[in-house]
Amino acid sequence: MTAGMRSVTDHPKTSDDVEVGAYLGTALVDTPPRGTRAHGPKSLESIVILDFGSQFSMNIARRVRECNVYCELLPFDAPREEVERLNPRGFILSGGPASVYDEGAPLAPDYVLQSGLPVLGICYGMQLLAHQLGGRVAPSGQREYGPAIIHTNTPAHPDEAASPLSREVGEGTGVRAGDIFAGLPASLPVWMSHGDRVVELPPGFRSLAHSDNSPVAVMGNDKAIVGLQFHPEVVHTQHGKAIVENFLYRLCRCRGDWTAGNFIADSILRVWQQVGEGRVLCALSGGVDSAVTAALVHKAVGDQLVCIFVNNGLLRREEPERVQDTFRRHLKMNLVYVDAADRFLDRLAGVSDPEEKRTIVGETFIRVFEEEADKLGRVDFIAQGTTYPDVIESAVGHNAAAKIKTHHNVGGLPKDMRLQLIEPVRNLFKDEVRQVGLKLGLPKEIVFRRTFPGPGLAIRIIGEVTRGKLETLRSCDWIVVDEVKRWKRGLYLKLWQVFAILTDSRSVGVMGDSRTYGHVVAVRAVMAEDAMTADWARLPYDLLARIASRITNEVPGVNRVVYDITSKPPGTIEWE
Ligand code: XMP
Repeated sequence: MTAGMRSVTDHPKTSDDVEVGAYLGTALVDTPPRGTRAHGPKSLESIVILDFGSQFSMNIARRVRECNVYCELLPFDAPREEVERLNPRGFILSGGPASVYDEGAPLAPDYVLQSGLPVLGICYGMQLLAHQLGGRVAPSGQREYGPAIIHTNTPAHPDEAASPLSREVGEGTGVRAGDIFAGLPASLPVWMSHGDRVVELPPGFRSLAHSDNSPVAVMGNDKAIVGLQFHPEVVHTQHGKAIVENFLYRLCRCRGDWTAGNFIADSILRVWQQVGEGRVLCALSGGVDSAVTAALVHKAVGDQLVCIFVNNGLLRREEPERVQDTFRRHLKMNLVYVDAADRFLDRLAGVSDPEEKRTIVGETFIRVFEEEADKLGRVDFIAQGTTYPDVIESAVGHNAAAKIKTHHNVGGLPKDMRLQLIEPVRNLFKDEVRQVGLKLGLPKEIVFRRTFPGPGLAIRIIGEVTRGKLETLRSCDWIVVDEVKRWKRGLYLKLWQVFAILTDSRSVGVMGDSRTYGHVVAVRAVMAEDAMTADWARLPYDLLARIASRITNEVPGVNRVVYDITSKPPGTIEWE
């Protein structure tokens, strides 16, 4: 669904519009009664990725989705029924920090190994395949971390194409494990990160590639079970995406039906089923996630949707006006504007703990919605633009990812919430949400708006949030964004986010011969593929100089500007 995927040429493609029509046609014939809750895109093919705790697990999911195949990242011990509901065409076992011989090391479930479906084991996932299928894994002499070159093994003799290791799988499907390298050069630069390695192949497997350090850098059998010692999902593995694509299209025989069009059709159907005759409130924030959510719900249930935009007093300058204008003018949505700024700011008074701030903002949001719902008469659902990284990072329904912050969309909701949630983009990455937005015809200014966190400026003011500090930060933020947008066409869009932070430090300065003691403002700009990892942006010095000069000259009380040069990890994007 992402732009890169349009280049896949070895499977048939129709335009999304044709697909939507065909898909909706099929789906509607099979419509379950309204009001029943549907799970997962049942009619779409899918891949299940079992997560053994690798820091790269999310990247695997991104790569698969980029190849137009739907996938979900599930905990390694996900119950069979949860996996079956996705009706997978193959499995991927992620890497992980354990060693197969550790006591209590997580193992691949039997239902995976006995499924007869293709399996791709990556790093620890490969070692599990070796260990659980009768081979042997042992610690490498030295831990291998970083770039390496692997060389694919050419068949030992001309008859090998007919040997049990490369012959057709199952009943003549023509799938060969070696196809994992189809179309690729014989030597490939890859990214390794492992301590153990396979020293004895399981019965029926052969080595498909070697490196200087490992005779078995890749192994495979005639059941389309393949193990990779390296990580195809990281950008440093140059042909990684092609390897994943080969697994999906040549081994799993996927068709590639995960497109924006199919997603839209599927979501509309599911929202329609879930909502029935109910009424939905949608919390608009002005960002792309909630806009796409609202547009999808609107398409599904039309007038049963009422959008509410809450001014929580934590928004950027002119944002409340701009959002109202855009949604009323462009989307012609039924929009209720609620000015709750005082309520939020009063509740935040005296609070400086970041988690407490998030919880207060999340909770107050929901209370405001419930009150608005009461005013509107019967309301049954609330639609939210929660996305996949929010879900994973809040460690809800996913036991391998450590909880880092409570994103208010997910973790900060009150336990006794009365309204049911609808989260149509919950399983999407940000760039997928944008693709869907474009496909739905939303204006580009919404689709490409940079991410802004739900708790807003509250988590960009270190310490207590006051009205005065909010005004100071708004002025700084305005200058930062204004200068970046003016700098060079496109720079703003290349950045994942760019913003100012009002720190709780003060510093001594000098202005017009007098001593000042003012606020220190930090500027943060990051490049990212999604918000799971990020690199600080190398903004031009001259741009930074303009920003610093304007802020110190134009914003009263600020006499120093610093630039944040921390990546994620170890930092997070927001300061709180
Ligand atoms: P961090 O700071 O965790 O942020 O690296 C990752 C991305 O999420 C945004 N963010 C939030 N969004 N509610 C949101 O809706 C939140 O509580 C929240 N905290 C962080 C952040 O702006 C970045 O894009």
